Amino acid sequence: MNTKTEQDRVLIFDTTLRDGEQSPGATMTHEEKLELAALLEEMGVDIIEAGFPIASVGDFEAVSAIARQSDRSVICGLSRAAFTDIDRCWEAVKHARRARIHTFIGVSPTHRDITNLTMDAMVERIHATVTHARNLHDDIQWSPMDATRTERDFLCRVVETAIKAGATTINIPDTVGYTAPRESADLIRMLIERVPGADEVVFSTHCHNDLGMATANSLAAVEAGARQIECTINGLGERAGNTALEEVVMALRVRNDIMPYRTGIDTTRIMNLSRRVAAISGFAVQYNKAVVGKNAFLHESGIHQDGVLKNVETFEIMKPEDIGLVANNIAMGKHSGRAALRTKMRELGFELSDNQLNDVFVRFKALADRKKEIYDEDLIALMADTATNA
Ligand code: KIV
Ligand code: ZN
Repeated sequence: MNTKTEQDRVLIFDTTLRDGEQSPGATMTHEEKLELAALLEEMGVDIIEAGFPIASVGDFEAVSAIARQSDRSVICGLSRAAFTDIDRCWEAVKHARRARIHTFIGVSPTHRDITNLTMDAMVERIHATVTHARNLHDDIQWSPMDATRTERDFLCRVVETAIKAGATTINIPDTVGYTAPRESADLIRMLIERVPGADEVVFSTHCHNDLGMATANSLAAVEAGARQIECTINGLGERAGNTALEEVVMALRVRNDIMPYRTGIDTTRIMNLSRRVAAISGFAVQYNKAVVGKNAFLHESGIHQDGVLKNVETFEIMKPEDIGLVANNIAMGKHSGRAALRTKMRELGFELSDNQLNDVFVRFKALADRKKEIYDEDLIALMADTATNA
């Protein structure tokens, strides 16, 4: 167990703006990134990975602007294991009150083949680049990409190298969503036990969801001693996505009896963030998605309805209000007015200007004349048409 955090406090590292944005088609504008960063900070996210500054001028500018507007959250930028990347990253994050440089390199056999580096050459590169980063700043995160498919002895060696060179957080990525809960825990436990200096750093877990195990793998890593979880809102991320922030945070809250760890997240802000990320990224949340799905608190069958009417705990393990879900008591139809439409759209994650409201309202009325019931999807489709028409 590391000594850098309180024993039961798990840091939440949100990478919606970096790994989340890497989902094909999820590109966000500068303003949207600033808005999401502010919401993440208000929600109590400890570390916000704001982007990959060397990737583009746009990314650099977004990370710099997020760093400047930030207050409590640590603002982190990603960089490959190259001096120019690290310098560019530092140039962007240095404006933050609390900044972090995150540098990584692929360490598994496949990645060593691609970079054409021998084990010794890779160790040298890690030592040089982490030392370079540490000479610029004192909060340095290092990640051995594809850690879960790397030989255990070599993984220990590279982690030890990064710690000796000055890394303060060691993040263990399951880059391709390959691990399983027991293995995820064993890996973290082994690193903490075997690597000299492990008790001086924070161990972090970064899971992808290719086999649907990202949440379970992250929680297993925490039980083995990791004290930082990397995650994204709605589990947004490449392929099947990353660990979903709302899932790990609510799991730690609801099952605190068996997982006695706490986060600093104000869970009542989860639903709003989920809706904003869905609206901004264009990635709709699946209806039966844990915690934030449209059906997560809906009861359809007679037995379930009867049960929750008598005692809500019969079929609900968390309260809708704990995630900031307000009862949906606005029925949209042809008698609804502009104010109701604006409120409903806001609930769905769309903030409308007066002009947009006028435009959508006309088309909403036409639709309501044809259709008895207007569902959320109808309204979302109206917004998609607005974007196309704009
Ligand atoms: O999945 C991964 O390996 C990553 C690293 C850059 C941390 O996103
Ligand atoms: Zn990742």
